[in-house]
Amino acid sequence: MSGRLAIIGTGPGNAAQTTPQARAAIAAATDFFGYAPYLDRLDLNDRQVRHASDNREELARARAALEMAASGRNVAVVSGGDAGVFAMAAAVCEAIEHGPMEWRALDLEIIPGITAMLAVAARGGAPLGHDFCAISLSDNLKPWELIEERLTAAAGAGFVIALYNPISRARPWQLGRALELLRGILPASTPIVFGRAAGRADERMAIVPLENARSDMADMATCVIIGSPETRVIERAGLPPLVYAPRFSERPEK
Ligand SMILES: C[S@@+](CC[C@H](N)C(=O)[O-])C[C@H]1O[C@@H](n2cnc3c(N)ncnc32)[C@H](O)[C@@H]1O
Repeated sequence: MSGRLAIIGTGPGNAAQTTPQARAAIAAATDFFGYAPYLDRLDLNDRQVRHASDNREELARARAALEMAASGRNVAVVSGGDAGVFAMAAAVCEAIEHGPMEWRALDLEIIPGITAMLAVAARGGAPLGHDFCAISLSDNLKPWELIEERLTAAAGAGFVIALYNPISRARPWQLGRALELLRGILPASTPIVFGRAAGRADERMAIVPLENARSDMADMATCVIIGSPETRVIERAGLPPLVYAPRFSERPEK
């Protein structure tokens, strides 16, 4: 089979944060599948074809890309950030698992990118410097009760939590509910980082204690980093504060 499928993470949205490996894969591909705003960020030539689709159609998009690769084309599936983090690589794997056997023989490459939480963390200091996890607040593909259980377990175990998909027009209350839940578990002074559009021209960063965190500080381009009781904030005159996770942890008294 001569077709090829590259799943490419293009980084958080700043051209300098797209890796050379991702650039080379983009230059080599003939057909591009992805959410329209991600495809808009690519600098394609006249011979490269866009197949844009809605962000909610991940599995259909994955199947269409696999079919085209199986027909011999050099196909790219494009995600923002890293394609393996709340993005298209998992949808393509799911399509392969349940699809025709010939898709398993395709020349498949997954090219990593800088994911949003790393871009946000780098702007704020080193909040992910010790144990952390990432949770999507989207309840489109999992029940809200499971999200609450995971938030409770992660915060209770002392993990820093990077929240993806914190809020959208279709999911307006989830972040407020999550913050309320976390206020029952974490100290009121726990630092919360709201990193919006990290690396892009419209970037906005805010660092507030949990007691002052509000859901209207985030939009759908925001990654929210919930500190742990150990997270430190260093104030700097005339400069934004630095947030970091100490390298040493004590086991809390039970
Ligand atoms: C569907 S997820 C895709 C994540 C992407 N694959 C990644 O690795 O960053 C979309 C969410 O990623 C986060 N996000 C994406 N780009 C961002 C950026 N430049 N700054 C902050 N958060 C971002 C937001 O939480 C947004 O709701």
